[in-house]
Amino acid sequence: MEWWQTAVFYQIYPRSFLDTDGDGVGDINGIRSKLDYLVELGVDALWISPIFPSPMRDFGYDVADYCGVDPTFGTLDDLDALVSEVHARGMKIILDWVPNHTSSDHPWFTEASASRGSTKRDWYVWRSPTESGSLPNNWIRAWSDQPAWTWDETTEQYYLHCFLPSQPDLNWANIEVRAAMHDTLRFWLDRGIDGFRMDVIHLVGKELEVDDDPEMAALSHVPLNDVAITHEYLREIRTVMNEYDDRVSVGEVYLFDPKAVATYYGKDDELHLSFNFASLVTPWRAEAWRDLVAESEEMQLTVTAWWPTWVLSNHDNARVASRLGGDPARVRAAMILLLSLRGTPFLYAGEELGLLDAEIPTERIVDPGGRDGCRAPIPWSNRPSWGWPTDPWLPFVDDVATVNAEAQMADPDSMLNFTKELLQMRRRHAAWRIGQLTKLQVVGHVLSFERATQDDRVGVAVNFGKSQARLPWQQTQIRESFGSISPEGELPPGGAAWVELT
Ligand code: NOJ
Repeated sequence: MEWWQTAVFYQIYPRSFLDTDGDGVGDINGIRSKLDYLVELGVDALWISPIFPSPMRDFGYDVADYCGVDPTFGTLDDLDALVSEVHARGMKIILDWVPNHTSSDHPWFTEASASRGSTKRDWYVWRSPTESGSLPNNWIRAWSDQPAWTWDETTEQYYLHCFLPSQPDLNWANIEVRAAMHDTLRFWLDRGIDGFRMDVIHLVGKELEVDDDPEMAALSHVPLNDVAITHEYLREIRTVMNEYDDRVSVGEVYLFDPKAVATYYGKDDELHLSFNFASLVTPWRAEAWRDLVAESEEMQLTVTAWWPTWVLSNHDNARVASRLGGDPARVRAAMILLLSLRGTPFLYAGEELGLLDAEIPTERIVDPGGRDGCRAPIPWSNRPSWGWPTDPWLPFVDDVATVNAEAQMADPDSMLNFTKELLQMRRRHAAWRIGQLTKLQVVGHVLSFERATQDDRVGVAVNFGKSQARLPWQQTQIRESFGSISPEGELPPGGAAWVELT
């Protein structure tokens, strides 16, 4: 097994993790100061959302220099120190590489947009209006009903941007672009970074002229782009990754069909892992989850390199606790599921506290995609300003007085301690990390499955229903159990349990 197959990843959105220099925005030293918390929590690898120099119009996903650290977050020295401190604790760390687009402040774009004859002109995607004077194609950019094309007055052509006009798309068809981007990977791999989460990686290859489906005219192009050439670019990227030992690439393949996502593993020569975002939109119903898990399991029959990933929250979507209406039983059930399915789980900072999305007053909304709620700062201590030296850039959640790390550390029944125990059990039981997934079934509203190695067998049952329900095992089969089991040996409404089987 590779380390990234058995690891539990923990995503840190650095702006919201912890501030140490008093500017209201989290920083690298904030992450450093919480490493012992993360070791105690029991996660194995950290994914840090972008920390590169950026004008922050998309809060770091608009990169102005791929090989540096934005002063808001600290210095390259701080990052090097973080990497060695993470490694000293036996953990891994991956960065967030944004290959599809740069910031319009990136020197490459400044040069490319200076004149049509610029040597960097072809590094971005430029088009003249069509003969009838209309836009080059009908693509819509993300978070709006606006075209993915912006007119450049100076050079009188449109440039492509699948996100903000300040995030021009790089032209991956240009071999110089690919070489330059490969070098940015090497820059960090040479510094000991264990790999990358690769932002909207399915978007790098494009078929601008073909892909002009009128049916899709009103939709952002991002979740639709799925073209063959991207796989070639991914094989080149994998070759770069393979120059180093033990590194990982986790692609953000923002397509909602797991079968399409699986093709991005290639023949074990493209991505090592990819997110499967279907879990973010799967309704909380037993059959829906059974089908999702079954589909993920079946994929290994056709895609040899397929290793599933599981995610319930991230910085782009409503947190799982909010999606489940804040129901504590369900929030715990979701955590049991996330940590017990076969594959690599990704926890989003604050999920271990059961954090909800914050209510953001209109005047404090700063994100162009309106994703502020799930980016609320992590509350560390149990009094204002909740472990932060000053008021953070976004408001805290409403129930911050009870949902904070300090209060939860002191409460043996807290979500935090529940998550810790699950993570410890995951470490103790090989079946949980590497076991085959068998006996996937739904009885009534209870979804259950088992994980087994030759000498270790565990089971998981989740009650998606509104009334008490039976476990699928006899009492005599259960050696040890964890989670919510009633005195009658049943699952309460919304409850879930993990059992060690004889
Ligand atoms: C996906 C990232 O997760 C999101 O935060 C960002 O806005 C877009 N890609 C554009 O980079």
